[in-house]
Amino acid sequence: MVSSQSSKTPMEPRSNFKWVLLFLLATQLGCQLISCSVTYDSKSIVINGERRILISGSIHYTRSTPEMWEDLVMKAKDGGLDVIDTYVFWNVHEPSQGNYNFEGRYDLVRFLKIVQKAGMYVHLRIGPYVCAEWNFGGFPVWLKYVPNISFRTDNEPFKRAMKGFTEKIVNLMKSEKMFESQGGPIILSQVENEYGSVGKAYGGAGYNYMTWAANMAVKLDTGVPWVMCKQDDAPDPIINTCNGFYCDDFSPNKPYKPTLWTETWSGWFTEFGGPIYERPVQDLAFGVARFIQKGGSFFNYYMFHGGTNFGRSAGGPFITTSYDYDAPIDEYGLIRQPKYGHLKNLHKAIKQCEPALLSVEPDITSFGNLQQAHVFSPKSGPCAAFLSNYDPNNAAKVTFNNKHYTLPPWSISILPDCNNVAFNTANVEVESTKMEMKPSDSDMFSWEMFTEDLTVSDESSTFTATGLLEQINITRDTSDYLWYTTSVDVGSSESFLRGGEPPKLLVQSMGHALHVFVNGEHSGSSFGTRKHRRFTYKETINLRAGSNKIALLSVAMGLPNMGGHYETWETGVLGPVALYGLDRGKMDLAWVNWTYQAGLKGEAMNVISANTNSYMKWTQDSLIGQKQKPLTWHKAYFNEPDGDEPLALDMNSMGKGEAWINGQSIGRYWSTYANGDCQGCHYAGVYRPLTCQLGCGQPTQRWYHVPRSWLKPSNNLLVLFEELGGDPTKISLVKRSTVQ
Ligand code: GAL
Repeated sequence: MVSSQSSKTPMEPRSNFKWVLLFLLATQLGCQLISCSVTYDSKSIVINGERRILISGSIHYTRSTPEMWEDLVMKAKDGGLDVIDTYVFWNVHEPSQGNYNFEGRYDLVRFLKIVQKAGMYVHLRIGPYVCAEWNFGGFPVWLKYVPNISFRTDNEPFKRAMKGFTEKIVNLMKSEKMFESQGGPIILSQVENEYGSVGKAYGGAGYNYMTWAANMAVKLDTGVPWVMCKQDDAPDPIINTCNGFYCDDFSPNKPYKPTLWTETWSGWFTEFGGPIYERPVQDLAFGVARFIQKGGSFFNYYMFHGGTNFGRSAGGPFITTSYDYDAPIDEYGLIRQPKYGHLKNLHKAIKQCEPALLSVEPDITSFGNLQQAHVFSPKSGPCAAFLSNYDPNNAAKVTFNNKHYTLPPWSISILPDCNNVAFNTANVEVESTKMEMKPSDSDMFSWEMFTEDLTVSDESSTFTATGLLEQINITRDTSDYLWYTTSVDVGSSESFLRGGEPPKLLVQSMGHALHVFVNGEHSGSSFGTRKHRRFTYKETINLRAGSNKIALLSVAMGLPNMGGHYETWETGVLGPVALYGLDRGKMDLAWVNWTYQAGLKGEAMNVISANTNSYMKWTQDSLIGQKQKPLTWHKAYFNEPDGDEPLALDMNSMGKGEAWINGQSIGRYWSTYANGDCQGCHYAGVYRPLTCQLGCGQPTQRWYHVPRSWLKPSNNLLVLFEELGGDPTKISLVKRSTVQ
């Protein structure tokens, strides 16, 4: 029997070590003596013959650095978690077909071994579709170009590729003895992700694909159960599970399956232009307690640590680089209070009830319309009770077992002995901590810049075609950027040249951002939104007599991660494009010759790396004095600040672009302002992200995580590409610290 996962009290390091040893012995050796197994029954997941209440949290290995993993996992364990849940991200592991990468931040096995060493279990959500606000929902972009492919349906090329990757991961796990059936930490695996409603819309093909995916997974014979989330018709032996803000209305599709909640949303993600969403911990704890009192036995915080969408990994469009998620461990790996501590107390109270919860069904009695008692009374052993008040406005006084209890609004009291209240979801006894971004002692020095040259086209990297082409088909998502350039001849007799109304340029784009340049000058920019990718630019432009160069820089801001057949969604300038106001009337530019260039010159020249080739014409910023220029590369150096606080770049003075530290991308930045309704937030009542919004009127994201492990003591190189214009000399390195 393995019992070392229960985290009733924080352990001393020495005894911790002892437990880890015992755990390893029990699993690794034990599995040769008794057979290790994970099964399930109507009550719970059953590990080596023992029913378990399992508390889980999502930490995505790709969203932090390997140097952070152990600390994150230990904090999760200390917060009372038994299980770490992660998706597997196909696109980082197979960046081009048949070429695999499991190094660095993508070292899945190293991450899982850290979880194992902590004496915790793993839920491995292989997908390989993951959603997750991750670029293209985790699918590699090359997959879109496999002939005759259609994603997530009964389509042979797709199924072949999906089976190939799923097998690859399962085989890797087996070879590393990662499944619990082999003595490893993985107790559950997920195939697909929230396919239910998508599949229904695809009719018979959807159903066939779903059953194919289920059978394919089961045949891989991992020795641990598979789950499908939000899949009411998941076939046996797969367990269908719930995702949501609350899951107490959920029951699995067979009476012999346990009630599992694979995504307990602890907050919500952020999109550029939107506010920050917080979920009050009182309501989160209330949601969890409601689920447990109903008979649920596994729940997983999505996210327990959200982390950072480094590089161009954010899904989209417009998901921010920060994936903080208002999680109990913040983006930087610091504990968020009171969220973390209040949940830790909740977990302790739930674990005190574990024997009762796992033995019997609850007896439910009502005290009134909005108050109930759920009582678990086993034949032997203590009884446990959950007293609930669903009234969002009023506290309730109830009498239970001849004792009086006051229940705050929208709360549950947990009584592990049916007598004393160990925990109430609305009574937060943990002190809040405030985090602050403090200036560091490290200044940026030796600023230099160079502007993307709009006039000279290197013919080897461009091509010309008639008409407007789809962006991702050209870039294959190797860059966010695609240039569309054409020229327009203007006769010298045009009336606008003699004081008439200047012409207007209309450009419609399918996403996601557009910068318009006329004869090398920035005319303006337009942006879509996450929900409305299509947008129109219509502005007056400065034309002259003779030939005019119109250059449109289309910017992709993360590929979609969800939606029916999103692989068919188009990106870029697809028309109409037209000039209005010339003497001849409308001039259609959709079918003229356009010259295309994928990516920026700076990208082609690899300016982000310290070994930039010498013919790059960097100029010292102070000599130029044109800091607001669009399409400009900037670079500077800095020394590592002392201390061990997490670091961030304050990008408040900048517009929009991407930043790299010592050659590694810390992500896309954009100082766009948050639109929202920040009217205050109350924990009681049914929660939705709009309930608690923060940061309205401020840049959605101002600070960008700089992992300490990416730095050397001195002369760290910061490079950034600024699309709109900003003052890089005001960029500063800050330390994230707790306010005392
Ligand atoms: C879920 C999905 C997750 C994530 C979440 C929102 O529906 O399964 O992958 O996208 O929504 O953060």
